[in-house]
Amino acid sequence: MRVEQYRSYALGSQPKWISSYISSMSFDLYICDYVIDVLKAHVIELGESGNLSTKVVSKLLEVLEDFDCTEVRGTYEDIHEAIEYHVSKRTAEGKWLNLGKSRNDQVATALRMRVREEMLDLMDSLIVLLKEMVTKAAAYTDVPFPAFTHFQPAQPTTFGHYLLNFAEEIIDITSIIFGAYEFIDKCPMGSAAVAGSTVPVNRSRICEKLCFKDLAMNTIYATTSREFMVASLQVLQLLSLVLWRFLEDMFLFSNPMVGLVEVPSSHAGTSSIMPHKRNPATLEIARAELAKVNSVLQEFMLTLKGLPSGYCLDLQQLSPSLWEAFRRFRRTVIVIADFVREVEVGKGVERAFSYPLRAADVAEYLSMKKGIPFREAYKRVALAVKEHGYDMDAIERSVLGEERLEDPIASRRNLGSPGNWRPILNKVLNGIEELVKFVSNEWSRIGRCYDS
Ligand code: ARG
Repeated sequence: MRVEQYRSYALGSQPKWISSYISSMSFDLYICDYVIDVLKAHVIELGESGNLSTKVVSKLLEVLEDFDCTEVRGTYEDIHEAIEYHVSKRTAEGKWLNLGKSRNDQVATALRMRVREEMLDLMDSLIVLLKEMVTKAAAYTDVPFPAFTHFQPAQPTTFGHYLLNFAEEIIDITSIIFGAYEFIDKCPMGSAAVAGSTVPVNRSRICEKLCFKDLAMNTIYATTSREFMVASLQVLQLLSLVLWRFLEDMFLFSNPMVGLVEVPSSHAGTSSIMPHKRNPATLEIARAELAKVNSVLQEFMLTLKGLPSGYCLDLQQLSPSLWEAFRRFRRTVIVIADFVREVEVGKGVERAFSYPLRAADVAEYLSMKKGIPFREAYKRVALAVKEHGYDMDAIERSVLGEERLEDPIASRRNLGSPGNWRPILNKVLNGIEELVKFVSNEWSRIGRCYDS
């Protein structure tokens, strides 16, 4: 076997096939720009705290400023080694670059910066979805739609009310997203390998330069923990559950034998043999993509469970799956948002309303208007159902005689939902506004930091 040398910090050698097994170069490009920012902040701090002369600091900064992550070539253990090598090639001062820091605090800091941005991009995609849901719900606020329990027809509602059920839950999940964001936004830099260094740096100053709201103070926690990544995946997991529920509904509702919604043609897949097919293609892919996203959480759990305190190289293997999970998730959210925009209510709704969706309403009418105790009223309606089967009109006639129930939507109008959709819509609209504000405030806060 031809033995090629990788570059490495220490003296000694390793055959290429072993070095490349260890190397993280193939996915370090995802964090390279952040690593450069971290290094610049660190070097500035080394100057401000009097550990490096102004001359050395400005030389290092000049070279770091010029560093182009896309141009890194060669075999390295990781991007941290590659950068140090390239800087040292450009200036003799490069040998000072690693004073008072380690790859361990450096990588943990860069990862937190990247996850912070992934979370903001995630929020942006949720805003797109929520806006589509709200627009559709507002347009369909009076369009009758059946609600299900046990996946069986249950009660009358509107398509707007149905859609806002997902929107409201996503808005409620934003409090968890904001919480996760705060948890992520802690700075490990200055922790060095695990227990700090003897070089007196001001950690708070470095972290302020990188726009972190706070320090991860304990240096062992700061360098070991990847729970900030897990938190971001847990957010994706919660959101996935909501989206899966929507998808599952759509698979049933769009079945032509049910016909409650129509798969938009832009989202439909066809069959090579069956000319009538309109398969919900994008939604099937979405269902599987969310599975892949959530498998990453399992990967993290298996990797992190049983790891000791202090950096282990196992941690390095986690990040590419996380970037991929975010990418898949965001794409899926955008596809679902487009589906929501395009989807139409189908002809099956009329048929659904011929089922006794209003059986409970009839029993309640007997109780409220005729003073019949509810269980007795319920039994009367149950008998009528037994006699007339799933025929709402016949049931209503046999129980109420000439009297008729009020319109199902109107009779719910004063009860908050589904007829009176305003409060729900307002809650969602306020939630969207808060989300938009959060994202734009954060972008201008952290964006300003990177520019300096
Ligand atoms: N390549 C590593 C990672 O991505 C960087 C830290 C390596 N530290 C070490 N002591 N080998 O996590």
